[in-house]
Amino acid sequence: MEYSVKSGSPEKQRISCVAVGVFDSRKLSPSAQILDDASDGFISNLIRRGECEGLLGQTLLLHNVPDTLCDRILLIGCGREKNFDIKAYQKANSEVATFLDDRGATEVFSCITELNVKNRSAAWKVSYAVQATDNALYRFDQLKSKKENTRRPLRKIIFSVPSRRELPEGEQAVREGMAISSGIKLTRDLSNLPGNICTPTYLAEQAKSLAHTHRDFKVNVLEESDMNELQMGSLLSVSRGSRQPAKLITLEHWGGEKDQNPIVLVGKGVTFDSGGISLKAGGAMDEMKFDMCGAASVMGVMSACADLQLPYNVVGIIPATENMPDGLATKPGDIVTSMSGQTIEVLNTDAEGRLILCDALTYAQTYDPDVVIDIATLTGACIVALGNHTAGLLGNHSPLINDLLNAGKNSGDRCWELPLFDEYQQQLDSNFADIANIGGREAGTITAACFLSRFTKKYRWAHLDIAGVAWKSGKDKGATGRPVPLLMQYLFNRVNEDKDS
Ligand code: BES
Ligand code: MN
Ligand code: ZN
Repeated sequence: MEYSVKSGSPEKQRISCVAVGVFDSRKLSPSAQILDDASDGFISNLIRRGECEGLLGQTLLLHNVPDTLCDRILLIGCGREKNFDIKAYQKANSEVATFLDDRGATEVFSCITELNVKNRSAAWKVSYAVQATDNALYRFDQLKSKKENTRRPLRKIIFSVPSRRELPEGEQAVREGMAISSGIKLTRDLSNLPGNICTPTYLAEQAKSLAHTHRDFKVNVLEESDMNELQMGSLLSVSRGSRQPAKLITLEHWGGEKDQNPIVLVGKGVTFDSGGISLKAGGAMDEMKFDMCGAASVMGVMSACADLQLPYNVVGIIPATENMPDGLATKPGDIVTSMSGQTIEVLNTDAEGRLILCDALTYAQTYDPDVVIDIATLTGACIVALGNHTAGLLGNHSPLINDLLNAGKNSGDRCWELPLFDEYQQQLDSNFADIANIGGREAGTITAACFLSRFTKKYRWAHLDIAGVAWKSGKDKGATGRPVPLLMQYLFNRVNEDKDS
């Protein structure tokens, strides 16, 4: 898609379509009002007849509206004006794209960006309009032999900005939105690929190819022999049962000052989680190909950072492995020694995410990080607690937690804090080792984070459990690209904070 910004009056656009908002009930947005005035009440007449109430997501396409220069006007229902929040804004933008795609109009001047979204700047609105559009038009058809091609795809969207003064920041926002969008697309593509294609080796190769296309971007891949040397006994205990070799991938973007401590992102990369010897039940097991969505989100963020030449130091660490049953696989009761030296009793081989993350988190220390954020499809319990709308957030540093909560609010990609109180730690007591890898039925998301907290004492750390948000099940099964928007918003907020201070 081609995106640009322009300031201009809607009735003067010589273009195949102009999109404007209508609020519930039947209230014209400012640009809709201008078009209505120019056409001597054409739009308000239709609306009075009940053609468009303005319910969120409603659409009405008008042709040849008098005294306007465009071929069509698309009315987009935006819901109640006082409820026009980030979610509604995203919905209105996606609706413009999905409605117009393959409907004849190939170019649109969209005035949705002019609508007020509480506390959001013109630049934010442009960037998020780009992201919502790309997200809505996303298809994953690389593995279908027949592709459903759109015959007359929407090719170009021009977003309206209020005045010429906003043009430069609008153009910058288009660039930002497009970089984030392509990061999200990378995340979704990698996540949607099946386990027989997206193996640890494949992820490592994709990471290396990012380094080819982006300058100032370093990628390194540690092999199992290297991990052995580093004494990553916990990570290796998970890959023992697999024919696919594990990889520890690091991606480095040094965009900030030399002496700036990096933000380190650690993403769980289990390319298929069968449960291992503690084999999962069959239902929906295919969805365990999504157990590398954390890793995919780190790849997406790193690629966006490189695209944008983000002026900050950001490092991604991805422990990648399969979790499979095999004669050599780790068994319940086995005790392994992590890189930190702590011994772990593996009571359930299906709690493998924490086993690979703990060594990656210990390894993160070598970067002398400012903060470390891990992202993982870690527990089914998180879906029980928060459903599919909100990621779980836990950590050991409240300013970092607050920054992530805010980034979630600012991006619409929200997370919510669960407590990491000391009382939960004892659920991990083991009779035979320093720590057990499961904490019983209660508070599963918290005890998983408790486990990780034993390996993150030397730095500020937060953990995002994305089990409920990283993909959708059912008819629309597929990866969402979350929490890339949240993480990018967090990084932008950090860059801006540093500018101000
Ligand atoms: N990858 C799963 C968590 C998961 C399950 C995410 C279903 C999304 C949907 C993880 O490795 C796992 O199996 N966790 C176990 C932990 C338990 C054995 C303590 C779980 O959640 O059941
Ligand atoms: Mn598991
Ligand atoms: Zn898993």
